[in-house]
Amino acid sequence: MAFPSSFIDELLARNPIEDVVGHYVTLKRSGSNMFGLCPFHGEKTASFSVAPEKGIYYCFGCHKGGGALNFMMEVEGLSYPDAVRALAKRAGMTVPEDEQYQSRYRQQERLWALMKEAGRFFNSRLYAQEGKQCLEYVQKRGLTKSIVTQFGLGYAPDSWNALVDAMRKKGYTDQELKDADLVGEKNGRIYDRFRNRLMFPIIDVRGNVIGFGGRVLDDSKPKYLNSNETLIFNKRKNLFGMNLAKKTKEPYMILVEGNVDVVTLHMYGFDNAVASLGTSLTEEQVALLARYTEQVVLTYDADSAGQQATQRAIPMLEKAGIRVKVLNVPDAKDPDEFLHKFGADRFRMLLEDSSNRVEYQLTAIAKKYNITEDEQRIRYIQESAALIATLGSAVQREVYSRRVADAGKISFEAMESEVKKAFAKKMAQEKKRQEKIDLAPARALQPKARSIHYENMRSAMAEENLLAMLLRDSSLLNAAGALTGKHFSVPLLGRVFDALLSRYKEGLEVALGALPDLTPEEMSHLAGIAHKQAGPASEQAFRDCVSTIMGESQKKEITSDADLLAFRNKLKESKGAK
Ligand code: GTP
Ligand code: MN
Repeated sequence: MAFPSSFIDELLARNPIEDVVGHYVTLKRSGSNMFGLCPFHGEKTASFSVAPEKGIYYCFGCHKGGGALNFMMEVEGLSYPDAVRALAKRAGMTVPEDEQYQSRYRQQERLWALMKEAGRFFNSRLYAQEGKQCLEYVQKRGLTKSIVTQFGLGYAPDSWNALVDAMRKKGYTDQELKDADLVGEKNGRIYDRFRNRLMFPIIDVRGNVIGFGGRVLDDSKPKYLNSNETLIFNKRKNLFGMNLAKKTKEPYMILVEGNVDVVTLHMYGFDNAVASLGTSLTEEQVALLARYTEQVVLTYDADSAGQQATQRAIPMLEKAGIRVKVLNVPDAKDPDEFLHKFGADRFRMLLEDSSNRVEYQLTAIAKKYNITEDEQRIRYIQESAALIATLGSAVQREVYSRRVADAGKISFEAMESEVKKAFAKKMAQEKKRQEKIDLAPARALQPKARSIHYENMRSAMAEENLLAMLLRDSSLLNAAGALTGKHFSVPLLGRVFDALLSRYKEGLEVALGALPDLTPEEMSHLAGIAHKQAGPASEQAFRDCVSTIMGESQKKEITSDADLLAFRNKLKESKGAK
């Protein structure tokens, strides 16, 4: 629906972008803009920029951008109307409600309530007669009643309709049960999806039950049945246990593979353990971690899949500015087994001993080669040198070079030159990559957004510059003359120009944040344009853009006229031939 535009304007006026963003990101002023660490992709150096005067933000790293509403949608995972709601609440405004959106918001609230009810139901079944076997299993796995309660674990009865009946009684509809992915459907009848399983509620950082993982009570397959994505459940954006771990006093998080590992760790006092939701680690999960911690101890399973996942996770976490340590559990397949076998103290010792990721990776390389054979010893040294060459600190490079030199039985000098060689090779590769980009400027100028493509680069650049200028100084629109969106070669930019022009004519603020009907991708692209202009916005420069755009659009018409002429001639020829 469309909220009245006057309402949106006031909403944005009462929610300055720097306040809205400032709630999530520490911003430092630099000139007319403010900078901070991007909350969307995690990074070490601030490439996230907020332009208070324009009411927008833009990240030069991940190219996300938009107004205050886009920010709320992105950072809290809200729909547009819910973002409106959130900002209205913040500013103490009443939202003019529309039935359709009201019902969508209701739908979400109903799903949260339903999932919570379902969790309660499963939990109660664990202590009922029918849950006896499951409770025995829980005890066999060494879990105490209090940890079961803390995580809200439960039992899904071995029945096709236990949950369905219970939830219907509570007033939930079949449609709602389907929307929550708690049921399957066959021949028009719904049935419980989770049967005879130990249930792990998945709870987001705001405390809502958003999904379930259900484990079998024996060795049958599939081991886990997990909720699929729903209106309220996005696997990529959540971590199991984060609702509890976010409150830890420890300055780091322990990242493990399994739900059971998380629960056992918490039971043994490690209240900072989390797991990804049965998928490999995602960028969004890394960003979530970065919101709460600066260091992660990777504690994946000892098997080769776990080690591979570790290698994959290291650069993802480091890119987000998170320091990474790796803990390998010895003599056990995972942290859960280790804790039961050896106890919390031994695990704490492992944590203290956990190696930083470079040591871990060097060990992983060493394991691949038999260094008593010269050929393999050389490969070991070369591969290690390539790893060391990627390290930013000279001290680190020296320390690890010495270590590898000793292990590989060569002199430190020889190792040093090997690292230099690897570094030069890396630089050459980087340069080649950069050259490729430089050599294809037209391609480099294409928008990052996949849904937007520039056909006429000359016109598109003028269109971008013109928009950037008028967003800084809307009075330039007086110099627009006969220019309209139709003259633009990029439909999106033309549409935005028309919308801004009409706002200007109505005396409204000329700002991106107030424009409706833009996808997040389009909004990000526009925020990028608004942020790019370096030179001053002068009337002369503006007029130049206007004439370029109009000139290019005329060319297009001439071309099509020429096409028409050619077509007519052809027609004549073919008639003549008959
Ligand atoms: P235990 O074997 O009891 O220690 O369970 P665990 O929770 O430690 O699980 P495991 O280490 O085997 O797997 C790690 C995670 O991957 C689980 O917590 C699940 O989220 C997910 N997972 C495991 N098996 C399956 C499966 O069969 N299907 C799906 N969808 N996910 C699974
Ligand atoms: Mn496990």
